[in-house]
Amino acid sequence: MKRYYLTTPIYYVNAAPHIGHTYTTMVAETVARWKRMQGYDVVLTTGTDEHGQKIERAAKAVNKTPQEFTDLIAGEFATAWDRLSIRIDRFMRTTDPRHEKKVKELFQACLANGYVYKGSYTGQYCVSCELYVNDAKPGDPCPDCGRPTETVTEENYYFKLSAFQERLLALYEQQPDFVQPESRRNEVISFVKSGLTDLSISRTTIKWGIPVPDDDKHVFYVWFDALTTYMSAVEGEDRWPADLHLIGKEIVRFHAIYWPAFLMAAGWPLPKRIFAHGFLLFDNDKMSKSKGNLVRPLPILEVIGAEPLRYYLLREVVFGQDGNFSYDAVIARYNADLANGLGNLVARTLSMIRQYRDGKVPVSAGSPEIAGEARKAIAAYRDGMEVLQFSRALEALWSLLSLLDRSIVQYAPWKLIKDAAPEAQEKLNTILYSAAEVIRIATALLGPVLPQSTAKIWAQLGMPEALESVTLDSLEWGQLAGGQAVGEGSPVFPRIEAGPAVEKMFELEAQEKARQDALVGKAPAAAPRSDIAPLAETITIDDFGKVDLRVGLVLSADRVKGSDKLLHLKVDLGEDKPRSIVAGIAGAYAPEQVLGRKVVIVANLQPRKLRGLESQGMIVAASLEGGSPVLAGFLEDVPVGARLK
Ligand code: MSP
Repeated sequence: MKRYYLTTPIYYVNAAPHIGHTYTTMVAETVARWKRMQGYDVVLTTGTDEHGQKIERAAKAVNKTPQEFTDLIAGEFATAWDRLSIRIDRFMRTTDPRHEKKVKELFQACLANGYVYKGSYTGQYCVSCELYVNDAKPGDPCPDCGRPTETVTEENYYFKLSAFQERLLALYEQQPDFVQPESRRNEVISFVKSGLTDLSISRTTIKWGIPVPDDDKHVFYVWFDALTTYMSAVEGEDRWPADLHLIGKEIVRFHAIYWPAFLMAAGWPLPKRIFAHGFLLFDNDKMSKSKGNLVRPLPILEVIGAEPLRYYLLREVVFGQDGNFSYDAVIARYNADLANGLGNLVARTLSMIRQYRDGKVPVSAGSPEIAGEARKAIAAYRDGMEVLQFSRALEALWSLLSLLDRSIVQYAPWKLIKDAAPEAQEKLNTILYSAAEVIRIATALLGPVLPQSTAKIWAQLGMPEALESVTLDSLEWGQLAGGQAVGEGSPVFPRIEAGPAVEKMFELEAQEKARQDALVGKAPAAAPRSDIAPLAETITIDDFGKVDLRVGLVLSADRVKGSDKLLHLKVDLGEDKPRSIVAGIAGAYAPEQVLGRKVVIVANLQPRKLRGLESQGMIVAASLEGGSPVLAGFLEDVPVGARLK
């Protein structure tokens, strides 16, 4: 039997599954089903990327061992795919002992062939986060905690990536479809042409990882470990090389450069094809954890089911390009194409067959015109699916459905039934047969995209064999048997009322976010409020360093004559003499309420005059638009003059 092996990336366990992961995984599973329909014995793998310092730390934050933590999140992924009816054949985790064994084998093969050496690695390291900051220069701050990084040198194992420049370029040349789409291929080629530097593949600063054989001070670092799951997932099954790695565009370099280089170094076969798709945006905005606008799949599943989502992702997004996601758009697509389109055609056709032909598909060859269009649609659908242009494939099929719709109106079966003439009855047979046959063909072709709903339609058509047993090559016009009794059934795609469904999805999404945040030990964020001022422009640590904030003690406080807003304060900052500060806090604080308080003062602000009084600094207070200021203070005692940074 022909075999086909395809993969999704293995997902990091620092977040539970969101719509981006779901996208790749749903697409991959559609391809797996499509290949099965062509008679292939298919294996689809996914999994989780579980090593590294960040995971170790995340586990600690929720009082779990790294293994307990990764078990929990890997479980979230496996459960999500299961609930979304995504059939995964092998789920590989980087903490699996079979994987560990494979990574070590890859390393040893690379070492034996002279492509690994020990060298010293110098990078910017954040002592507080215990992490290297990639691409940082000496003195740069840590992006996580903002503290300055330190230049640290450690001994590492290096992979001789630089030795593969020519071989990689030859690979892209000889196998033009190795990296797709074309835009990504070009990006990869120009990257390789610009020169490759050797790659550090181990760390001594990390504990949570796969130890390097015979040198377990070191653990393997990220990609050497992660990419090897593609092999360990099918170890002992004689499945390697993979036919297709489906990935997002942000990890194309690792897949198209590092991975083939590692394999060439080991002398192992290369995967056949890498396809990098685009990113999903939410309401046209980049999704990210920090923005808090990640969309999770389970709320969508609960409100409208997994198939409307899957259909949307395949139909609406041009595979390879970025695409937008919004709850409204998913429902709009569903109502237009599935409820009003396919679903309505099925319901009308079956009801006419029941009413006019006693529930039996009439005997007829069907309309030659519709048959011709159906043949073209099969071919176009096939071509589209083969090159992973799902939206094109689906479009071709929906053109056939609208042709059928128009033909039904032209034939007007409701008139023909009233005409006893044999030609009229023959015409009625022709259109009813054609309609049922188009539905059968469309249903069979859509099996990989809408597995559950097509199975229902299949049963309603009264098809004797199982839908999965239909192979693509055997699908031809005219196979529907005249005389076949159609089954019963309710609408397969009931209309969804957008307003309440969208509202419900937002509500469940907020709950799901809170649940997932709790899993990874994050306190729920306060709900965004409209009266909170938008975030100011990003500044560097140096910009911040220019602001000198000091702890001050309020020695005296008086109302400013003629103003009900201002207090005149004398504040001790530990300098020779107290500062004179005019503060707009009189509406919120009486003079005696601030007397003797420790406050925060912007101490290097240019002095200015207010109501004839010099103000030599500004007092720091929290305030909402239109609300009263609340002075910043300290829970513990602090010395006067201490700087805040
Ligand atoms: N662990 C690495 C991959 C190792 S593969 C050997 C990783 N993990 S990840 O959790 O960040 O997942 C990245 C993948 O998730 C992307 O390549 C893509 O498949 C999918 N997506 C994540 N966010 C996405 C969008 N917003 N849109 C579409 N897919 C995205 O990188």
